[in-house]
Amino acid sequence: MEKKMKSIGFIGVGKMATAIISGLDKDKFNIFISGRDLEKTQKQATELQVLAMASHEELVEKSDFVVLSVKPQVLAKITDEILPALTADKTIISIAAGYTLSDLAHLMTLENMPILRVMPNINAKIQRSTSAIVRNEFVSDDNYQFAKEIFENIGSVHEVAEKDFSAFTAIAGSSPAFIYIFIDALARAGVFHGLSKEQATAIVADTVAASAEMVIQSGENPWTLVDQVSSPGGTTVAGVVSLEQNRFVGTVIDSITATIEKEKALK
Ligand SMILES: NC(=O)c1ccc[n+]([C@@H]2O[C@H](COP(=O)([O-])OP(=O)(O)OC[C@H]3O[C@@H](n4cnc5c(N)ncnc54)[C@H](OP(=O)(O)O)[C@@H]3O)[C@@H](O)[C@H]2O)c1
Repeated sequence: MEKKMKSIGFIGVGKMATAIISGLDKDKFNIFISGRDLEKTQKQATELQVLAMASHEELVEKSDFVVLSVKPQVLAKITDEILPALTADKTIISIAAGYTLSDLAHLMTLENMPILRVMPNINAKIQRSTSAIVRNEFVSDDNYQFAKEIFENIGSVHEVAEKDFSAFTAIAGSSPAFIYIFIDALARAGVFHGLSKEQATAIVADTVAASAEMVIQSGENPWTLVDQVSSPGGTTVAGVVSLEQNRFVGTVIDSITATIEKEKALK
């Protein structure tokens, strides 16, 4: 017997939903979207090769998995609208920053509602998101695997305990901004020493990407790799010592702590 194609519905079709949908094989899943303005949603549906639904309620009725991809500020309004169509055979996936599984369960009002929380990052745009995933006890193993597969289509997925979501959000959600600053700083140093900004940026971006790949492929502790490029009395170790004297590591850690503290303060 042919296996029924799973249906995934996205409520809110902004940057993140568009990135996720673009990474999904339209022959493998039935995909529905619903937005704020039907005319706009229909246009987006044509571009993304999916189906537009006239209401969030209708989308929920038709979907096995419902991805809540609106801004956190409108989440409560959306869940109110979908409550009549919610049944425990559906699985909810929230990507909203700051909403815990227990906050979400509270909004859904159904005691045994299967809910997953996923935190993708901006690199979803190039199908290279680093996403965190966590589920509540009502999500079956099969549905958990399926949800993981959705996000594996747009990058890597890390199983992260919910208590660590804030730290994850800082080191994977916000960190692209910090890494852009580092890339720009290295490139600017290249300009200071005579390279064009365009060429220096391309050189640094390639080097940062390859160095990250080296950490992944070698499985080495990053400090071991630092030691490998630092010849005794050489040029690289002079730069490493200068970074340390200027509190580089401590400054990076402080910025992650500030990010986590800001998230807590916003709640
Ligand atoms: N962007 C990221 O890097 C990132 C990373 C991790 C998590 N997230 C989470 O992903 C979620 C979406 O973020 P985003 O960056 O994709 O935001 P976004 O681009 O602003 O998308 C939100 C979408 O929701 C739509 N919307 C607003 N009110 C609605 C309603 N009542 N019904 C249906 N749709 C409605 C908006 O439509 P209009 O434009 O027509 O108002 C917009 O298309 C957020 O919860 C955010 O925390 C984002």
